[in-house]
Amino acid sequence: MNNSELNFIFNRRSIRKFTSQPIPQDVITELMRAVISAPSAGNLQNYSVILITSPDKKSSLYELCGKQQWILEASLLLLFCVDTNRLFRWVEVMGGSFHFNGASVFLTAFADTVIAAHTAVLAGELLGLGSVYIGRILNEPVSIVKLFKLPKFVFPAVLLCMGYPAEIPYKTSRLPMGSIIHEEEYKDYTVQEVKNIFRDKEEGFLNWCKNDPVFCEKLSKMGITTSSRFTTLYHYPKDFIQRVDKNVKEALMYQGFLRNSD
Ligand SMILES: Cc1cc2nc3c(=O)[nH]c(=O)nc-3n(C[C@H](O)[C@H](O)[C@H](O)COP(=O)(O)O)c2cc1C
Repeated sequence: MNNSELNFIFNRRSIRKFTSQPIPQDVITELMRAVISAPSAGNLQNYSVILITSPDKKSSLYELCGKQQWILEASLLLLFCVDTNRLFRWVEVMGGSFHFNGASVFLTAFADTVIAAHTAVLAGELLGLGSVYIGRILNEPVSIVKLFKLPKFVFPAVLLCMGYPAEIPYKTSRLPMGSIIHEEEYKDYTVQEVKNIFRDKEEGFLNWCKNDPVFCEKLSKMGITTSSRFTTLYHYPKDFIQRVDKNVKEALMYQGFLRNSD
């Protein structure tokens, strides 16, 4: 199917260079109409979106999220937060029970939040807007909570940079479809299947090394000779993951989603 109606999905790619053109208010409103049309568990819409355009806030986010230039350059940043505060306020005002605070509620609301965020990504594509997620919003969530005055039971889940694209980047590859899609039940992988699935990534790493032998010699001395080692030892090393993990747990407690007794 060459002319698939899904081409806007197939052609999407993360955009990390934006023009300085602001997004008109009516386009933002249309985008937000799409966001709140997203499905949510129990139709409770347990998420909030904070629209950010001020240079000060962008610059704080830039510092907190690993100094990624596109955070400063995107016309609009959208901070998608898990939010059961609004539901609690409703119960406070109109009566009911305050038991919406455990792991299952958090995960369900997290699903609502991510679905809403990706609805913005896809709607953005149709409106001529490019975007990129910033997962590093989880680096220091307590600082994000303070910066945006998030009350208890509101948690920053994903950040989206959005704007008019100033680049058409190359299309990133994907793992083979058969390695991701399982029929009826999960089928674990043989060693040979694992090698086949990740062959392109491993070959890409070797080719990259041919282009930068000096750096790769350094990596090699650290025992980093494969793409899997590069990913888990260099790109996302253990101390980084453990530090973020600790910060996320601290923030989940701070915001009331996790108790010491849990
Ligand atoms: C949860 C999540 C977090 C991400 N975090 C970042 C990030 O911090 N910085 C960035 O430049 N890209 C980030 N990305 C974008 C991915 O790198 C990108 O989606 C992936 O490489 C595939 O490329 P594509 O989006 O162009 O298809 C993130 C994507 C997701 C879904």
